[in-house]
Amino acid sequence: MALAAVVLAAGGGTRMNSRIPKTLHQLAGVPMLHHVLDSVGGLCPDRMIVVAGERWREIGSALGEFAPEAEIALQPKQLGTADAVMAARKALSGFEGRVVVLYGDTPLVRSSTVNSLVCALDGDADVAILGFRSEDPSGYGRLITSSDGGLERIVEHKDAKDTERLVDFCNSGIVCAEAATLFSLLENVGSDNAAGEFYLTDIVAVANDEGLRCCAIEGSEEELHGVNSRVDLARAEQSFQERARTAALKEGVTLMAPDTIFFGFGTILGVDVVIEPHVVIGPQVSIADGAFIRSFSHLENCCVGRGATVGPFARIRPGTKIGKGTRIGNFVEIKASVVSDDAKVPHLSYVGDTEVGAGANIGAGTITCNYDGVSKHRTRIGDDAFIGSNSTLIAPVIISDGAVTAAGSVITHDVPPKAIAIARKRQMNLKEGADRLFRRLRGNVGSDNKPTGRTSNSPAPLDETKSGN
Ligand code: UD1
Ligand code: CA
Repeated sequence: MALAAVVLAAGGGTRMNSRIPKTLHQLAGVPMLHHVLDSVGGLCPDRMIVVAGERWREIGSALGEFAPEAEIALQPKQLGTADAVMAARKALSGFEGRVVVLYGDTPLVRSSTVNSLVCALDGDADVAILGFRSEDPSGYGRLITSSDGGLERIVEHKDAKDTERLVDFCNSGIVCAEAATLFSLLENVGSDNAAGEFYLTDIVAVANDEGLRCCAIEGSEEELHGVNSRVDLARAEQSFQERARTAALKEGVTLMAPDTIFFGFGTILGVDVVIEPHVVIGPQVSIADGAFIRSFSHLENCCVGRGATVGPFARIRPGTKIGKGTRIGNFVEIKASVVSDDAKVPHLSYVGDTEVGAGANIGAGTITCNYDGVSKHRTRIGDDAFIGSNSTLIAPVIISDGAVTAAGSVITHDVPPKAIAIARKRQMNLKEGADRLFRRLRGNVGSDNKPTGRTSNSPAPLDETKSGN
């Protein structure tokens, strides 16, 4: 049976009080819309249509590489959720099969739950709706069921009578029906209600009038609550984090203080990973077995190899691959780089657009100067190379296998294999210079004990940098 997914994302999102379209607000580091498309993507639908309004370009570019198969249908005016589904009709002309409609502001729904809704049509139901019980149903449409368990109608909160508002069975907005049934029901939906909108929820009453059968499948509020405001968004983030922490613990990860560790969308964790308190993991991070992520580290869009140690206070930025057994220490920032197996970047370094060879050692304070103000350039550090502390590597530059750079060097040229590059001023020691310096400085102090300073034509006592300023 063919399946099409229609995701509604054209609403104004007024209650967010934002310039950003509501479904593009971030949850676990990616737009809410990604979460919805990911869930429904788990069912491998034949078609995926995202309904967008005047901000369709922004919605389209957010889909980008994440869901290139998704098509955009334009809803020119936001006349309500029924009208939004109708906006997908043209794109689905000729489509035969089931259509599942999801709201872009209901991001935590699981694939398995959407699947059970779609499968509900295998029985005698013509329309299936996903609902949930809530202690605070205020704002949601209420599912009014009949004594035989069928779904009679959905009444929106704004239109509900006091007795109906006592019903705690809420509409999640996720609906499934055969394409032909869905679009024919939608044709009969009007806008005679408190909001003056075309409500998708009205298809239930229309279906019952036509003698069709509607059913409600019950899911949990944790996965079906909608996001209309920033308060709702914060609550969704909390639900996501709780879910991710529990999943990590179950999968064999030690979280020393789970409530202080934050995960992003698409995190993959191996067994026996240990994460110390206060770690932020952004989207698309994979951490292999036995890796140790120490406190106050921040990782995004990167891979950490087996048994590697990261942090404390490390920042691993997008496009970075850290090999097996590597050690990335405190106050180290790594961006778009490959750090090969067993290499070490133990302290205070910036490594950007760089390949670090296996077993290389990057000394404290090393900086790869990857940006010249216009373009980014790459640095290559070979296997077993040794970069002395406080080296400045001006990219593009290659430090070959087994080469050494002396501490404090500014490296502007490639270093051949096993060579030592020394690029710093030779040290000069002035015999008893310190003694002479202080004698001169003290001699310059006037009777009121204030330094008189050096006049422009008096000679510098010594190298300015060593004059004690
Ligand atoms: C809707 C449901 C309500 C349900 C709740 C669940 C209706 C009439 N009401 O209310 O029963 O309990 O969701 O969270 O459906 N959208 C469009 N075009 C429009 C209007 C909305 O694409 O013209 C999109 C929005 O971007 C959003 C979704 O549809 O993603 C739901 O719209 P929203 O205005 O948030 O509906 P609710 O008031 O939450
Ligand atoms: Ca909503």
